[in-house]
Amino acid sequence: MDIFQQPEAMRAWAQDQRKRGTLIGLVPTMGFLHEGHASLMRLALQQADTVVVSVFVNPTQFAPNEDLAAYPRDFEHDVQLLKQEGVAAVFAPTPELMYPPGFQSEVQVKGLTSLLEGRTRPTHFAGVTTVVSKLFHIVQPDIACFGEKDFQQLAVIRRMVADLNMAVRIVGGPIIREPDGLAQSSRNTYLDAAGRTAGLSLFSSIRLAQKLYADGERRASVIVEAVRAHIQAVPLTRIDYAVLVNSETLEETATADEQTRLMLAVYIKDKVRLIDNALLAQSL
Ligand code: PAJ
Repeated sequence: MDIFQQPEAMRAWAQDQRKRGTLIGLVPTMGFLHEGHASLMRLALQQADTVVVSVFVNPTQFAPNEDLAAYPRDFEHDVQLLKQEGVAAVFAPTPELMYPPGFQSEVQVKGLTSLLEGRTRPTHFAGVTTVVSKLFHIVQPDIACFGEKDFQQLAVIRRMVADLNMAVRIVGGPIIREPDGLAQSSRNTYLDAAGRTAGLSLFSSIRLAQKLYADGERRASVIVEAVRAHIQAVPLTRIDYAVLVNSETLEETATADEQTRLMLAVYIKDKVRLIDNALLAQSL
């Protein structure tokens, strides 16, 4: 497995692969890899000949009050996992290499980024789309995989690729959960035992919403109220948002249908912010 820190070295490797007709799959990550990331590597390997994974805690997608400095890192463990998954190349640049002195550009998707996560994290998605554009230019992958765990991020990236005619096919992968239902996340490491228990309220509220939908309830207000009450009854939780949206537009729905998705962001102990989502018409 090749590990590159320099964008130019990564680019040269990828160009050489392309010359040989090798289809490249890219999985962008911020490291501290878990089964959710690994599932995307397997998905990429199914659809491409070779897989590149980027490991980069991207400073521009963190607001000053967020957890950039505390964000968990363990590159040695990541390398073990990447080798096990048959990843061919890892791109792990430094912030200075990605944002050298004089850097002044930004890629921004409007509209979609002002909803949901964008309300609480107004500068977040511009950081994501800028770094993902850079990664696409450096690696020039044929496909790139993103998880539905960050459902809005996936939608924003699809929008960017369509709007800017980027020559990459975006593939979404399902949410990987712990056996008890908690969606896997690098940030779960911030949770202590009590926080972990509180974190399960996201999954249990998804199940509740799906049950209501399966039993015929279609009024979004009724389903959302049940979800909110369920989470609020769990100690240490504070809801940031709990809404039903259309999976395509991410706009709020009044009447639930098979496209309707429950989107959740919940603070645990006022400091760890967990997100989760699911289609109502599924059953987890
Ligand atoms: P990160 O949080 O490391 O996630 C990398 C990818 O893994 C994202 O596409 C995310 O949706 C996916 N992922 C995380 N947890 C998952 C889970 N439990 N099940 C399935 N997929 C999961 O998302 C980012 O990094 C960054 O914003 C990035 C796109 C790398 C840009 O910096």
